Amino acid sequence: MHAEDLSISDIAAQVGTPFYCYSTDTLIRHYNVFCEAFTGHDFLLCYAVKANSNQAIIKTLADQGAGADVVSEGEMRRVLKAGIPASKIVYSGVAKTEQEMTFALEQGIFQFNVESEPELHQLSRLADSMGKTAAIAFRINPDVDAKTHAKISTGKSENKFGVPWTRAREIYAAAAKLPGIRVQGVDLHIGSQLTDLEPFAEAFRRIVKLIEQLRADGHDISVLDLGGGLGIPYDRETTKPPLPLEYGEMAKNIVGHLGCKIIIEPGRMLVGNAGILVSKVIYVKQGENRKFLIIDAAMNDLVRPSMYDAYHEIVAVKERDGPTSPFDVVGPVCETGDTFARERELPDLAGGDLVAIRTAGAYGAVMSFTYNTRRLIPEVLVKGGEYAIIRSRPDYDDIIGLDILPEWLE
Ligand code: LLP
Repeated sequence: MHAEDLSISDIAAQVGTPFYCYSTDTLIRHYNVFCEAFTGHDFLLCYAVKANSNQAIIKTLADQGAGADVVSEGEMRRVLKAGIPASKIVYSGVAKTEQEMTFALEQGIFQFNVESEPELHQLSRLADSMGKTAAIAFRINPDVDAKTHAKISTGKSENKFGVPWTRAREIYAAAAKLPGIRVQGVDLHIGSQLTDLEPFAEAFRRIVKLIEQLRADGHDISVLDLGGGLGIPYDRETTKPPLPLEYGEMAKNIVGHLGCKIIIEPGRMLVGNAGILVSKVIYVKQGENRKFLIIDAAMNDLVRPSMYDAYHEIVAVKERDGPTSPFDVVGPVCETGDTFARERELPDLAGGDLVAIRTAGAYGAVMSFTYNTRRLIPEVLVKGGEYAIIRSRPDYDDIIGLDILPEWLE
């Protein structure tokens, strides 16, 4: 198995396992595909950096012209540091704090996606006191079913996100009267890993109606942020999500005539398939009636299978012929939930063999943690025949050293 021109086994021998490995080429290709899907429109792709906020990944996309969708001051600092100008930053997030808003106002970001009336009033007070004007859109909750996993569905009225579309006109009217606020757009994001275009289309149609009403009410709506959410094929046998081009066609058909600047905030689609998690088999253990492939990566390195029952393809890094048999692929962490796959058909693997967990570039490294006092794992970025470690493996002291013994225990 190769990442661009490099052998995964060679990288593993040098970096040690487990590690994340990303391809520059794939990242750029995905970025370009989205841009092509919206050619002819005033368009900005704001990469949802929550999917993978390593600065090398952000900078790779920034160099192509990408903006960023951020959800915290930390993410904002990362993207600014990676070279994305404030004029290309949209700030989403369900409850921005006073400190976070102040930082964003100081930077002069392109747009705040406001999610509630209390947040609006807070932003107005702050901007006014700083002598600034915050350009805002409201995140509209269109009350549509995104038909995705319940934990990543965000556009139903029972979800905590956005302001209800039924009250949007009243909320925009109130915002227009507030000091420090300039209403410029409408925003939505109905969920993640959507594998069907219809929920998007339904939500977009609702938003078009709303924008027409808002304009009739006298608001100058010039920006339409369609959010992210386009799904990717984790299991290539069973899931064929729409292509960015099809998504773009659908979106342009529904919202194109409004003449708004179109923003999209994809995360997963850009980085998911640009990354794998490489891990080594520690032991193969024969249970009473199951065979366990125990690998050196665990739920703390990639939590998606444990958290969302997510499917990730798992393959042997060195292709081999011969019979396959079912393995439960598990990590060493002391929880049954530390399971990557059950009864997965794999070739006859043994201790020391390498496996790759595919489609791990999005919501992998960013969601990792140090449970069981396991060190965070390195991230590696490949470009042609070169690679670089873009996050190093911390020392044990870096983790344990965070604890502080109170005086009375010293
Ligand atoms: N915009 C907003 C406001 C979001 O909340 C999200 C994702 C995105 C854009 C990007 O969505 P994407 O294009 O990546 O679907 N950890 C979960 C996914 C959580 C998604 C959260 N919001 C997972 O591993 O499946």
